[in-house]
Amino acid sequence: MIKVAPSILSADYVNLQKSIEEVDKAGAEVLHIDVMDGDFVPSISYGPNWLPAIRPITNMELDCHLMVKNPEKIIDVFADNGADLIGVHVEATPHIHRALQMIKNKGVKAEVVINPGTPVAAIEPVLSMVDQVLVMTVNPGFGGQKFLPETIKKIAQLNKLRNENADFDFDIEIDGGVNDQTVVKAYEAGANVAVAGSYVFGADNPAEKINAIKKATDF
Ligand code: DX5
Ligand code: ZN
Repeated sequence: MIKVAPSILSADYVNLQKSIEEVDKAGAEVLHIDVMDGDFVPSISYGPNWLPAIRPITNMELDCHLMVKNPEKIIDVFADNGADLIGVHVEATPHIHRALQMIKNKGVKAEVVINPGTPVAAIEPVLSMVDQVLVMTVNPGFGGQKFLPETIKKIAQLNKLRNENADFDFDIEIDGGVNDQTVVKAYEAGANVAVAGSYVFGADNPAEKINAIKKATDF
């Protein structure tokens, strides 16, 4: 069964506490926090100040997906503000190794992220240092886009590398266009954490959608 990470990008910001408590109670293991800088991606979302507000209301792991150019500038403040995991895009910095090292030095789980157009080979040199790989299943920047099936091949490739190398010990997360249909092939290919934004928070009953993702991967 896959772990579910609802993305608050699609939540009701006015009633954020209620939305977070709802998905927490429904059994979501991770809360996905999308940070967008208006430069690496066209949208601007929110920053590190949201973490101290969210931290006291849930025990879910806080997974911060930094869609930010040169993320090295803000890694420390996210770690100090309570992030449990920080994800940085390989496309966003010429110094991906340094960025991941900075995250690890803070005692926070380190994640490397790849866009749909980026091959797995681009992150092979850092796979031994990460706790999680995020395979973007849409182009980052917006919620509510369609899942790109061509990304499944990369999940399978990463799964194979993980199985064949004793020094690789990472989870594989997918993000974008996830629902109870699209999650199935990704889970079969080796993904074990699924981010879901609009599918969960766009629904009248978010708990039902979390259960639907879990049920679809209960095999
Ligand atoms: C996209 C973000 C996603 C987004 C997913 O740039 O990284 O986390 O919230 O939204 P859905 O699930 O609606 O595709
Ligand atoms: Zn995300």
